[in-house]
Amino acid sequence: MKRPLGIFDSGIGGLTVLKEIIRVLPEEDTIYLGDTARVPYGTKSPDTVIRYSLENARFLLKFEIKALVVACNTASAYALQRLSGEIAVPVIGVIMPGVKKAVEVTRNKKIGIIGTDGTVRSNAYTNAIKALAPDMSVFSKACPLFVPLAEEGWIDNEIAFLTARDYLSELRDKEIDTLVLGCTHYPLLRNVIAQVIGQEVSLIDSGQETAAEISKVLKERNLLDSNPHTEPSRKFFVTDSPERFIQVSKKFLGTTLDKVEKVDMMQYNIHNPAV
Ligand code: DGL
Repeated sequence: MKRPLGIFDSGIGGLTVLKEIIRVLPEEDTIYLGDTARVPYGTKSPDTVIRYSLENARFLLKFEIKALVVACNTASAYALQRLSGEIAVPVIGVIMPGVKKAVEVTRNKKIGIIGTDGTVRSNAYTNAIKALAPDMSVFSKACPLFVPLAEEGWIDNEIAFLTARDYLSELRDKEIDTLVLGCTHYPLLRNVIAQVIGQEVSLIDSGQETAAEISKVLKERNLLDSNPHTEPSRKFFVTDSPERFIQVSKKFLGTTLDKVEKVDMMQYNIHNPAV
């Protein structure tokens, strides 16, 4: 089926998820929306994150997307249920794929979760793990400073190490053997996190797991690209000026973007019946 996948995130971090999607499903057309005018979601209330997520979905649905990927962990934590209830196409979030993998990988049944304040406060990861495997012990820690560090490219300097040591010492003491990177930005800090938490701890990249899940859902529903030999189309939209997004995109996606368009989310306000 030649319809695009729609992907949204609070900003630039979701490009780590898009990168994995492109690796697993290189032929698929993609439309990415980064809500850069309203980032961060990690410090916002559930109601606000739900409203922003519905508006982002409203924008992407205009492109006749065949599935919606919620690349943002915070939005997945708060808004996935609401989005799935209101949208006719499959909605795939980043939490459940990471949870399934963590439960599969752990040997000592002690799983650590790191994410934004919002993701940790929502208990979405803990609840999902407990629903799947009630005998697991789950320990969560919000690591908000990892987000600006990743965007600044401070991913292997002393400040990154000091920050990681401070955040992760609690989880080390709990003797977790599996750690879920429950935020779009954390894969960039993977090396620092691995060194600080210990190389014996398995790190789960929710973006990688999500890409595998999307591939499975598209196959099951017969939604894979029916004409895979044409060059895939990749569109990028942001809600604030594109300059910074373009500048930082290389760190997250691995390639520099040349065309990013700005969209005015006022038009997609959920209280606006005209859309
Ligand atoms: N994309 C967000 C997440 O994965 C991190 C940045 C933010 O707080 O908006 O939770």
